[in-house]
Amino acid sequence: MNRIVTAAAHPNLAVVKYWGKADPRLNIPTNSSLSVNLGSARTTTTVSFSPDLEQDVVRLNGAAADDRTAERVARHLDRVRRLAGRTERALVDSTNDFPAAAGIASSASAFAALSLAASRALGLRLSERELSILARQGSGSACRSIPDGFVRWEAGQDDASSYAYQVAPPEHWDLRITTVIFSDQPKEVSSSDGHALAQTSPFFGARLAGLPRTLETVQAALLARDFPRFGLALEREAVNMHAIAMTADVGAAASGLYYWQATTMQLIQQVQAWRRAGLPVYFTIDAGPNVHLFCEAAQQAALEAELARLLPDMRARAIVSAPARGAWVMSEA
Ligand code: PMV
Repeated sequence: MNRIVTAAAHPNLAVVKYWGKADPRLNIPTNSSLSVNLGSARTTTTVSFSPDLEQDVVRLNGAAADDRTAERVARHLDRVRRLAGRTERALVDSTNDFPAAAGIASSASAFAALSLAASRALGLRLSERELSILARQGSGSACRSIPDGFVRWEAGQDDASSYAYQVAPPEHWDLRITTVIFSDQPKEVSSSDGHALAQTSPFFGARLAGLPRTLETVQAALLARDFPRFGLALEREAVNMHAIAMTADVGAAASGLYYWQATTMQLIQQVQAWRRAGLPVYFTIDAGPNVHLFCEAAQQAALEAELARLLPDMRARAIVSAPARGAWVMSEA
């Protein structure tokens, strides 16, 4: 029996970053990472398989997906078909409630929701670990959008040992994550290219050597709800990742990979000034110019008052999230 399944997932934001792949085909990372699911953004995906379809049909935000996206989705559906021992093609309809390329990786929520919806539609009941592995094969960081709350992705050595699991539920810590969006433009260099170039940085070895300690510091501070320790460690970790990008060998065209814009740096300086003035806020940045601000819920109103003054001048807007659940099934028929 074929079912129509709708599943949803939130994007996740890394506090210890995944940057560099040990196995690009399977998306096995060079280091373990840690993230939190962002409650104010969501991908919702409906999948149905049918023997009447000649090929997979992929719709994204109400329109036919471009060829590259459709192919990437079809390759992922092939993985699910292989697991289920089935051959029917599928109809996939996926929508994001947040702007594409908002500096929130839509591929994480997209491949998490797709993995759950497609596997259930073919009658598979995968465990959380199996789903995380499947989602990782579609897009590395998608494996972290499967479990609830605060999530660790263990790098592992092979397909079976590289998966994500919960380190604390969403209600463990009432944090607020404010994503400040400077640019809706797709980034110039994809994270895939960034991963591939990471190892060309002369500092990559130093990053890897320091990461086990960073991970333990961030995770211990998270479990103890020690905000200053957590914040400073995650902020330094984000800068560490960007130092690798900036010192990568990208060839003759540029001296490194620069994701930051002038406004990014402006907000970084502002965050330091807020802390000196007694407002505990810390930042992280992914493979783009936008800045994600962390604070505890009690400080959110003070932060928003500051942002209300700042953002119009910077032509920026903000999305505020709390820690959220992992991927879930919305309906099944
Ligand atoms: O999963 P990808 O290939 O989109 O890579 C994600 C890379 C970062 O967002 C910069 C870091 C991370 O751990 O999410």
